[in-house]
Amino acid sequence: AADPRLRGKRVVVTAGGTREALDPVRYLGNRSSGKQGIAVALAARAAGAEVTLIAAHVEVALPQGIDLVQVESALELQAAAQSASSTADVLVMAAAVADFRPDHTEGAKIKKRDDSADPVITLVRNPDILAGLVADRNAAGRRQLIVGFAAETGDDRGGVLDYARAKLERKGCDLLVVNQVGPGAGGQELTFGQDSNEVLILDRDGSEPLAALGTKQEVANAVMARIAEKLGVEN
Ligand code: C5P
Repeated sequence: AADPRLRGKRVVVTAGGTREALDPVRYLGNRSSGKQGIAVALAARAAGAEVTLIAAHVEVALPQGIDLVQVESALELQAAAQSASSTADVLVMAAAVADFRPDHTEGAKIKKRDDSADPVITLVRNPDILAGLVADRNAAGRRQLIVGFAAETGDDRGGVLDYARAKLERKGCDLLVVNQVGPGAGGQELTFGQDSNEVLILDRDGSEPLAALGTKQEVANAVMARIAEKLGVEN
């Protein structure tokens, strides 16, 4: 018997790291494992929601029994998220989306030749998918809770919080789950690929940030509990 807090709700979760193709065999990628996003999808299902998982590259097994859309690039993730979002009650954007992509993809493998100059890769900006989904929701007047993730580096919690609050404002989402990564976060170099995580959940309503610490599943459960609480408040 499922925990009924989100019964009847549609939750869309993005997870993993996008890959931006350079040629048929090479890409620009990132170190996201997808573990945190997949844990969020599982937490949503455990709470009784109908879940769509939009998965970019992940390093772990994809969950069975969840509606799954697999994507590679940021633009593919955007198309999938846009089409899934129109009927979603909740969007959780946990994927690590490339900010830039190569300006074109070579149709054939880039060759190294002694007689040719070294290749130069020109990057162009990817759209901010999260900010676009917020704009779409607002334009449609939809009631939809949108949750962003952010990985911030920095030594002091105060600085990280200020930066994260500014990001929450800029993106316009309702909640921002902030990971502190890099030197200064408890001596840990990065949380990528690890099984545990420590986050702050920031709310645009200005309420106190909520700290969650534990396995990525425990963190996901805390995020889902906050989502359920907000849906309860707003319904
Ligand atoms: O700006 P930043 O990359 O720190 O924001 C992270 C959040 O924005 C995540 O929720 C991520 O999924 C989302 N994002 C996005 N499109 C981008 C970059 C990030 O939706 N191009």
